[in-house]
Order: sequence, then C-alpha cells, then structure tokens
Amino acid sequence: MEKIKSSLMNTYNRFPITVDKAKGSYVWDADGKEYLDFAAGIATCNLGHVPDEVKKSITSQLDHVWHCSNLYQIGPQQQLADLLTEYSCLDQVFFCNSGAEANEAAIKLVRAYNQDNKTIAAFQQSFHGRTMAALSATGQEKLHVGFEPLVQGFTFLTYNDFDSLRWLRENPPAAVMLELVQGEGGVIPADHNWVNALVRICNDEKILIVIDEVQTGMGRTGTLFAYEEYGFEPDIITLAKGLGSGFPIGAMLAKEEVANAFQPGSHASTFGGNPLASAAGVSTLSEIVNSNILDNCMEMSEKLFTGLKKLQEEFPQIKSIRGKGLLVGIVVDGPAIDLVTTGINRNLLITMAGPNVVRLLPALNITENDLLLFFERFRAVLESVSKEVSISE
Ligand SMILES: Cc1ncc(COP(=O)(O)O)c(C=O)c1O
Repeated sequence: MEKIKSSLMNTYNRFPITVDKAKGSYVWDADGKEYLDFAAGIATCNLGHVPDEVKKSITSQLDHVWHCSNLYQIGPQQQLADLLTEYSCLDQVFFCNSGAEANEAAIKLVRAYNQDNKTIAAFQQSFHGRTMAALSATGQEKLHVGFEPLVQGFTFLTYNDFDSLRWLRENPPAAVMLELVQGEGGVIPADHNWVNALVRICNDEKILIVIDEVQTGMGRTGTLFAYEEYGFEPDIITLAKGLGSGFPIGAMLAKEEVANAFQPGSHASTFGGNPLASAAGVSTLSEIVNSNILDNCMEMSEKLFTGLKKLQEEFPQIKSIRGKGLLVGIVVDGPAIDLVTTGINRNLLITMAGPNVVRLLPALNITENDLLLFFERFRAVLESVSKEVSISE
C-alpha cells in the first residue's frame, strides 16, 4: 500500500484493502478475505462482477481486434448503437469512455444545436463529472473551489422546486440537464409531478431535455433507463458506469434532429466505441433486456426497502430511506463514513452519497440469500456504530 500511495496522485482517500478477485456480488482482498459488495463499483457492475456472458464476449473480441480508429467502421460499436437506439427513445449514439465525457459531448451538442442561446439550466446538488464543462454543470460549489474560471453558461435551479420552474418559463435556456435520481448529491429521486411540470415547460418553450443516466441507467432504477418511469422522452441522455459491466465506456444518445447538429469534425474520441468496450456493452445490454434482471431488481428493491424500514424502527440513527430500484440512500444521524469503515471490518462494502447518506448499490441480479447476508452484516454495523456513539457520550 505504501508504494501505491507514493506513486499515485492524492485524489482519493482509499480504504486499506486491495481488491484482488471478484465474482457476482462478492469480492476478495489480497489476503483472501471475502466481502459482500453493495458498492458494485459505484453502480458500474450492475450484472455483478465478471459476468459470464460479458466475459465471453470480451474474450472472443480479444482474438479479433482490440482497437481500431473511428476512421473505419467498427462492428461491435455499430451493434451497440443499434441496440441502444432500439431499446431507448433516442436515434443516434456518440461513444466515449466515461460519464464526464458523455456529459461533455451532451453540452457541446446542445451548443451546436442552438446557435442563439447557449445557456443550460442545471440543478443544485447535481453531479455530472470532473472534467471542466461537466464540473461547471455540477451544482456543488465545494467541487468548484480552486478550479475557476469555470465554463460559462450554466444556471443552477433548485431540484424538485416548483418556483424554479417559473424561472425556467420566464428565462428559457437552450437546455435543462438533470439526473432523475441525484446520485452523488444524496440519492434524491425527482418528484413525478415536478418532472411532469418541467417537461411541459420544456415542450412549450422548446428547451432541450438532457437526462444524465450515468448512474441511473442500465437498469439501476428498475427500468433500463430512469426516464421511462417518468413517462416522457428526453432529447439527449448520457450513459457510462453500467454500460460495460466495468469495462470503460460512455455514450451520449440524442434524437435525430438534435444529433444532426454534429457534423464530421464536430466532436471525437480516439477510444470512443473501442471494439473491446463495445463488445462488453453489447453483451451487457443484451443480458439486461433478455433476462429477468429488471424484475429481479424491483423484487429485491422492495425487500431491501422493507428490511431497511424494519431496521429503522430498531436503530434511531436511521433517519430516512430513499431512492429507486437498487439505488438506495440511507440518511443517518452522524457521519456515514463511520458505517462505511465499520462495514469493511464486518465484510461488507457500502458507500456514501454526501456526509450523512449511506448509499447501497448492489448488483441487479442479487439473490435473496445475498440480501439476508446483507441484513445480518449491516445490523452488526449499526450495532457496532451505535455502541461506539453511546460509549463516547
Ligand atoms: C450522474 C453522474 N454523472 C456523471 C458522472 C461522472 O462519471 P465518470 O466518473 O465516469 O466520469 C457520475 C459519476 O459518479 C454520475 O454519478
């Protein structure tokens, strides 16, 4: 760990375990200690670790071609674009390598489409990535500090707030950009009535709707894309995380009329839609749409919420439980990090979404037995943390 620490830039506080092996909902550290993984690469390993079908397609692609410039046609990339457009309301795809990059592409497409109005309304508490435009669209001031000047043209509105919709009607921007469950911002689902009102204004005022599905997409909230649950069609969506089951790939999808604003030379990415990453995407998406994984996600989500509500009756440090599908936030009284670190000692990987929110992101094909084990281990975590608090009091 010491060597790793000294040669890596200091951008993460890393826990002192090295993940050495992973399968399904479990990972093992270099000492062979097993952990139940409820972090899933922060919503990336939606099919669990090393899913057989995806492993097969990457392995087979390894024998064909690893990389090919976008100056030539790439079979798996075309196949993935066909599948994404078949299973979404969008018509065309631009491939890249990460969520931030997908959002950068979306921001550029909005600007290319609307030559008269370059403003994008984003939302407080949002998270869209760490590159300069994605960071500038992120409504968390603490992440901006020290990196100014930011990219111009973003206005921040209050999420789930009807008053900010009045502002939208009076000052129509080129686009609104939002997550339908704010992930990093604290696992906050968008209110259905509020989204309906927002969509109505956007339709009336010809404002493009950009939905960041980087965390919510690929089945995480129980449908392939979260926008499906809200009953409207966005103009642009962005994807990454779960798209390649852990193989890095991002995508920006748009309606044809909007996508037409890009011409050859408008935007590019050397690795975007790389054959190996695209092969991972094709098998991941095929597995999601051809299996019962979305039903399983909803069934396990219900059981997870029910079990957590029972725990809440017993442990007053749980203030509330919120989220959608298997993107779940537990608001706790006290630092969430205490539960996360205690979890490691109890063979359970969980993560955070802000200082007081524990975030659970299990694989979407999690079994009932895995859930039972989660409750056993999480109960031990809660008992241990509440004991520590009462001793320190
Ligand atoms: C909603 C959302 N958008 C964008 C990003 C950035 O993705 P990446 O880290 O792949 O750049 C994230 C990452 O957590 C995210 O949750």
